[in-house]
Amino acid sequence: MDIELFLKDLREYWIKNTVPNVSDVNVNFLRDLLKISKAKNMLEIGTANWFSGINFALELKKNWWHLTTIDFSPKSQWEALLNFKSANLDNIITSILWNALDEIPKLQDNFFDFIFIDWMKKRSWEFLNLCLPKAKPWAIIIIDDVIKFKDKMQTLRTYLEKTKIKYNIIPIDVDDWIIMIIKD
Ligand SMILES: C[S@@+](CC[C@H](N)C(=O)[O-])C[C@H]1O[C@@H](n2cnc3c(N)ncnc32)[C@H](O)[C@@H]1O
Repeated sequence: MDIELFLKDLREYWIKNTVPNVSDVNVNFLRDLLKISKAKNMLEIGTANWFSGINFALELKKNWWHLTTIDFSPKSQWEALLNFKSANLDNIITSILWNALDEIPKLQDNFFDFIFIDWMKKRSWEFLNLCLPKAKPWAIIIIDDVIKFKDKMQTLRTYLEKTKIKYNIIPIDVDDWIIMIIKD
């Protein structure tokens, strides 16, 4: 199977069905970050149809490292699993179908070295708050859509200022900047 063609088809499916996948520019940057960070255990919040997940798994697969991804939409999850099977990457992932607010606390503490938060923008700060104990020191934490959903992200900015967590805003894509946090 030609995986790049498969991803191109998924991208076209997104355009037709308005699945809010991460942009190409952002996902390529995140793949490079995965490469240089040598992350072994990645956590993704917001699977959708697996466009981002397949991209991440392609990097993690090189060393048989692992992706755990959470989404509460059965339709998303079903599409995701089919896509993962088609891409022959289903042994690289653990896919959790439930509300992440309930599931994140059950994950192992101090375990993940790369976390990607890509959902419910207004509540990003709550997901970040739950994810922080799950991240190892020096873990990379990325939050997507900083500009596109600027207004909804205000609660996150307030949380970051209040907790004095250091962060960078990276203008990686024209309308889709990201926040990057390196856990202390
Ligand atoms: C922006 S999409 C994720 C896109 C995906 N990361 C990609 O780039 O291909 C956000 C996803 O988060 C899921 N979601 C939103 N709120 C959720 C919650 N509380 N628990 C679990 N999943 C949630 C939605 O079902 C949706 O599929």
